[in-house]
Amino acid sequence: MTLTRRELLRASAGAVGAATVINSALAQPPLSTVLIPSSGQIVPRVGIGCRNYRAQAGDAELTVFRDTFAQYHRLGGKIIDTSPNYGNSEEVIGRIMSDLGIREGLWVATKVDREDRTEGINRMVRSFELLGGEHFKLMQVHNLRGTAVQLETMLAWKKQGRFRHIGVTTSNESQYEQLIEVMENNTLDFIQVDYSPGNHSAAEKVLPLARDRGIAVLTNLPFGRGRLFNAVGDRPLPDWAADIDATSWAQLFLKYVMSHASTPIPIPGTTKPHHAEDNIQAARGRLPDANLRAEMERFIDPLLA
Ligand SMILES: NC(=O)c1ccc[n+]([C@@H]2O[C@H](COP(=O)([O-])OP(=O)(O)OC[C@H]3O[C@@H](n4cnc5c(N)ncnc54)[C@H](OP(=O)(O)O)[C@@H]3O)[C@@H](O)[C@H]2O)c1
Repeated sequence: MTLTRRELLRASAGAVGAATVINSALAQPPLSTVLIPSSGQIVPRVGIGCRNYRAQAGDAELTVFRDTFAQYHRLGGKIIDTSPNYGNSEEVIGRIMSDLGIREGLWVATKVDREDRTEGINRMVRSFELLGGEHFKLMQVHNLRGTAVQLETMLAWKKQGRFRHIGVTTSNESQYEQLIEVMENNTLDFIQVDYSPGNHSAAEKVLPLARDRGIAVLTNLPFGRGRLFNAVGDRPLPDWAADIDATSWAQLFLKYVMSHASTPIPIPGTTKPHHAEDNIQAARGRLPDANLRAEMERFIDPLLA
């Protein structure tokens, strides 16, 4: 059965939280999932960001990175986000995926950020060499650099089956007007934007527009690069954390992101197995409603002032 984009948009509301990924090995409640409007693919609701997977042969961190990926995959995680701009992250995680034999089980997203067409092509070819596989689930223009020219190549390659989805990213409010223009004038499958309980300006225009246009959303900096953990310090979790089945600050922050009406998929950066486990757990249990989301903002905002 083929669904139109409009039908998929309507279906997505019901599919969120209803569709599941069963993790029978751990006898855990299922991970909640999100439906990607443009393709109808269903993916787990929390991803992983790989900005800090930088290491050289022989470095002790490599083992920890590998264990983090193994744990993430074992717990049902799929989406990984990287970029050629993150040091040698593509090389490091390409090797890890190959060693663990999990490349095809993961949903790989990377980026390109060149003004020039040929340089962009070379960059994307190199990403394939480093990350392996014959296609990426998502190719994104990084920080809107060279958007028009790179989207042309990306669209052509999408038609050839090399990319399943295409999109653009930013992590800076100063680019939102440009982002909105790109969203309005192109057919995008995804945007990636910064959004967290400590930084919710994307909710003003960008996220509602994504929802209206059936564009799926990845959210970077869900912890404000760790700033949110510093803000709450040693404070115990508020009583209302139990109302949304959150047992850590990380889960509480991620559940705030996930509960926006545009159903964003946070991609928390982590290089530690226990953090990967903590973050995946956010895709289980209840999410905050509008009242609790407002309460969370009232709680966090003064701590960041
Ligand atoms: N413009 C763009 O396209 C753009 C810009 C920025 C980021 N991104 C993407 O978004 C991803 C996320 O951003 P980010 O990594 O910069 O920042 P982030 O996700 O907001 O924060 C990452 C920090 O949180 C820590 N952390 C992770 N899980 C934790 C947990 N459960 N408990 C306590 N601490 C935890 C990490 O430490 P450990 O490493 O020790 O776990 C790291 O220090 C990046 O990796 C990248 O893929 C894209």
